[in-house]
Amino acid sequence: MIPQWVIEKKRDGGVLEADDIRAFIEGYTTGTIPDYQMAALAMAIFFQGMTPEETAALTDAMMRSGDCLSFEGWPRPTADKHSTGGIGDKLSMVIGPLAASAGLAVPKISGRGLGITGGTLDKLESIPGYSTQLSISEFQRVVAEVGCSITGQTARLAPADKKLYALRDVTGTVPSIPLITASIMSKKLAAGADTLVFDVKCGRAAFMQTLDEARELAHSLLQVGGALGRHMGALITDMTQPLGRAVGNAVEVAEAIETLKGGGPADTRMLMIELTALMCERGGVMPDRATARRELAERLDDGRALDVFRRMVEAQGGDACVIDDPLRLPQPGAVVEVPAPRDGIVADVDARQVGRVVLQLGGGRTTTDDVIDPAAGVDRLVQAGETVARGQPLMRLLACDAARAEALLQEAAVAVQLSETAPAERKLVIEEVAPNKGE
Ligand code: URA
Repeated sequence: MIPQWVIEKKRDGGVLEADDIRAFIEGYTTGTIPDYQMAALAMAIFFQGMTPEETAALTDAMMRSGDCLSFEGWPRPTADKHSTGGIGDKLSMVIGPLAASAGLAVPKISGRGLGITGGTLDKLESIPGYSTQLSISEFQRVVAEVGCSITGQTARLAPADKKLYALRDVTGTVPSIPLITASIMSKKLAAGADTLVFDVKCGRAAFMQTLDEARELAHSLLQVGGALGRHMGALITDMTQPLGRAVGNAVEVAEAIETLKGGGPADTRMLMIELTALMCERGGVMPDRATARRELAERLDDGRALDVFRRMVEAQGGDACVIDDPLRLPQPGAVVEVPAPRDGIVADVDARQVGRVVLQLGGGRTTTDDVIDPAAGVDRLVQAGETVARGQPLMRLLACDAARAEALLQEAAVAVQLSETAPAERKLVIEEVAPNKGE
């Protein structure tokens, strides 16, 4: 394989051979192919796209660039859920334990937040002692003993993706469906789950802003997963408004715990049940979606899912007392209420704007080296359709000191739009994407 010939072929709109893709990725991972050739190929893919077969070959090559975990022969089917990222998205912390309580094994490799979208690892690290740096054998042990483990990507899992993602970030080649598909799927497939369910977020605070883009990504993920022999499912869900009433890190853990105790905001609980029901159905542990919804609601209400979460936290070195006493989670130095400027009905809460506020409060990062404040964020956020009186809080800002929060009062207030009339009901699950024939 001559790297420049492969680049030229893609530049001119040709279809690459699987062997060439494999050799290219192998060369890039081991260092015989330099960054500039990989960047040129990524840009050619950005402009010319890839066929489903090429995308599957790229995914497979990236997956095989490092360790591939296997849970073959295990007593439980393995499954995982992946979200493309949102504001207030604390679903993974509940879905893993909930799915495990229903008979699935959930080996979950999660990521950190970047920009306005949060990351499950940062959230879980606000639990004192919780380790997100498990070795592969520790990870497998926790999955075997508890049914679920949530940890970070090790250097040995899909290293080609780690290298290529950093390169794409600085070469303008992130927003390419085949490259995004291969990046997400290579990590998920290397972690070993047989069933993969995707929560493709759509709307102003999501990576995919339009329904057409979200559908295209969902189909690409389903196609590649199907071609590589996995059971697949995908929902496109709304990410114009935040999920739940808390956005940040420790505050989202507290809200996830509330949900695991059978409470929590209705939108968050509903979406957790929908995605877990899809995992259970595709993973073969529940006969149909209706039964799954009913049984999963019971597992949230009677504490079975909470019990798995408690055991996972303990197994990963965390202080499980936070479950009974959330005040043991990191607490902010100051809490500042954002008053409603007038009486009205909440018509809209702009998730993007809330995400920007949380970032500036210290709850997010703009570069991968930034250190986040686990206690920073917003809570008690109003939701569309609720009535507020002038002066009543729209949300609370949580920060290290009052000055930092007070400087953001105006930015926070404009996130909430008030109206005289009730808004149309929010459709949180926009649609389910069914695999096409052959996906
Ligand atoms: N998430 C990933 O892991 N990779 C991408 O390319 C985009 C989002």
